Amino acid sequence: MKKLSVVILAGGKSKRMKASTPKVLYKICGKTLIEYVLDNVAPLLPSKIIVVVGYKGEDVKKCLSKSKYCDKLQFVEQKEQLGTAHAVLQTKKILHSFDGNVLIIYGDMPLVSYKTLNLLILSHKKTKAYASILTCNVDGLRGYGKVVRDSAGNVVKIVEEKDATDIEKNIKEINVGVYIISAKNLFKHLKRIDNNNIQKEYYLTDIVYSISSSGEKVHGVILQDSNEIFGVNTQEDAVIVSQILKRNILKKLMENGVSFVDTTSVFIDSDVQIGEDTIIYPFTIIEGKTNIGTSNILGPETFIANSTIGNNNFITYSYLEECKIGNNCRIGPYSRIRPETIISDNAKIGNFTEIKKSKIGSYTQINHLSYIGDAEIGENTNIGAGTITCNYDGVKKYPTYIGNNCFVGSDSILVAPVRIGNFAWTAAGSVITKDVPSFALGVGREKQINIENWVRRKNRARNGK
Ligand code: UD1
Ligand code: MG
Repeated sequence: MKKLSVVILAGGKSKRMKASTPKVLYKICGKTLIEYVLDNVAPLLPSKIIVVVGYKGEDVKKCLSKSKYCDKLQFVEQKEQLGTAHAVLQTKKILHSFDGNVLIIYGDMPLVSYKTLNLLILSHKKTKAYASILTCNVDGLRGYGKVVRDSAGNVVKIVEEKDATDIEKNIKEINVGVYIISAKNLFKHLKRIDNNNIQKEYYLTDIVYSISSSGEKVHGVILQDSNEIFGVNTQEDAVIVSQILKRNILKKLMENGVSFVDTTSVFIDSDVQIGEDTIIYPFTIIEGKTNIGTSNILGPETFIANSTIGNNNFITYSYLEECKIGNNCRIGPYSRIRPETIISDNAKIGNFTEIKKSKIGSYTQINHLSYIGDAEIGENTNIGAGTITCNYDGVKKYPTYIGNNCFVGSDSILVAPVRIGNFAWTAAGSVITKDVPSFALGVGREKQINIENWVRRKNRARNGK
C-alpha cells in the first residue's frame, strides 16, 4: 500500500479574523483549531505530518510542542504568505523524494472528520484518479471555492468566489479544502501555478485546472454531511463552528449516558470526560482536562476546570479549579475550591467556603463561611462556621495541620504554622497561635465576665436620674 503524508497549512495571516493571534491557534471548546485537525488526521497513521507555519509561526510551533502530537510533527516555514499553493510548495524540501500520496488540509477546518478523510483516501485509491478533492453541495454559502464540472460531470477547475463569474457564483458545489495527490505529481503541477487572480496569490485550488487541462482526471468526492465543511475565516465563522463542535461534544456525552437538564446553557470542552448517570444542570461550564466519574449531580451554575471528580458527588453553585474530589462528597452551594486541593470521600464543603492547596480527609465537614489555605485536615473532623487559617504573614505562606476527629469551634482563627492534634477541640471564637495537643481543648480568647446591672446603670445615667 502506498504511504501517506499529511500537509497542514497553518501559515496564513488571519486577516479576516481581525485578531492578532494566528487563526489556527484560535481556541474553541478548549482546543485550538489546528489540534482538532491533528485529531482528525492522526488516526490515518500517516508516515509524516508536516505543518506549514508562517505568520507568528513560533507561536504555532510552541503551542503544538505541548500537544500530544509533538513528536510526530515536522514544521516548514513559509516566509511570505503568498497563497496556499506557495505554502504547499515549501514542503518540497521534505517531500521531494517521497514515494506516496500527500493529503493536504487547511489548519482552519476542525470539523472534517477522520471518517471523511478516510473515505476520500479510499475513494481516491479505488478510482485510481490522478488527484481527488473533497466537495459538498450547499446553497448560498459565501467565501468558498466553486467546483466547476464539464457537461460530462468531470471536475475541470475550482474558482475562488472573488474571481468567479456571476454564473460560477451560483454553483452549489463548493471546495471543502482537502486534496490528495501523489507527491511526484503534486510538485509537478504546483510549479505551473501563477498568481494571476484578484488576490495576487498562488492558489492551491488552481492545481485542479492544471491537472484537468493536461488531460488527467480529478475525482470530486461529494461529502454528504455539510456540517463538516465549515472553516474559520471570520469571527462569525468561529461561532458557527463552535456551535457545531459543542453539539458534537454533548451528543457524544449523551450517548455515553450523561444527562443534561438543558443543553443550551451548558458548555463543555472537548477533552472533558464524564461518566454515565451524571446529571448536569443548567449554566454549568466544564473546561480543560477534567475527568468526571459516574452518578454525579453537577450544577446549576457550577464552573469546573482541569479537575478530577470521582463518583456520586453533588456539586452545586460552585467554582472548582485544578482540584481532586473523591466520591460521595457534597460541595456548595457557593464553595470555591482552588488549585492543588484534594478532597477525600464523603467530605462536605458548604456555603461560602474557600479552600486553597489543602488536603481534606474523608467524612470531614467544613460547612459554612470558612477559609482553609495550605492546610491538611484529617478524617471525620468538624470545622465550625467562620474558621480561618491565617496562612500568610505578608511574605511567606505557612501550613496548618488539623488531625482526625477534631472539633474546631466556630470562628476559630488558626494562626499558621500551627498543629491541632487528633481528637482535639478549639473553643469557639479562639485565636489559636500555639499547637493544641491531642485530646486537649485550645482556648484562645478572653474569659467572659458579666457586669451585673450594667444596662440599668447606663439607662439611669442617660435619663439623668
Ligand atoms: C480556501 C480555498 C477555498 C476553499 C476554502 C475552504 C484557496 C485559494 N482557497 O479558502 O477554495 O473553499 O479554503 O475552507 O486555497 N495559508 C497558508 N499560507 C498562505 C495562505 C494561507 O499557510 O499563504 C493557510 C491558512 O493559515 C489557512 C489555510 O491555508 O489555514 C487556508 O487559507 P484561507 O485563507 O483560510 O483560505 P480560504 O479563503 O478559506
Ligand atoms: Mg479558510
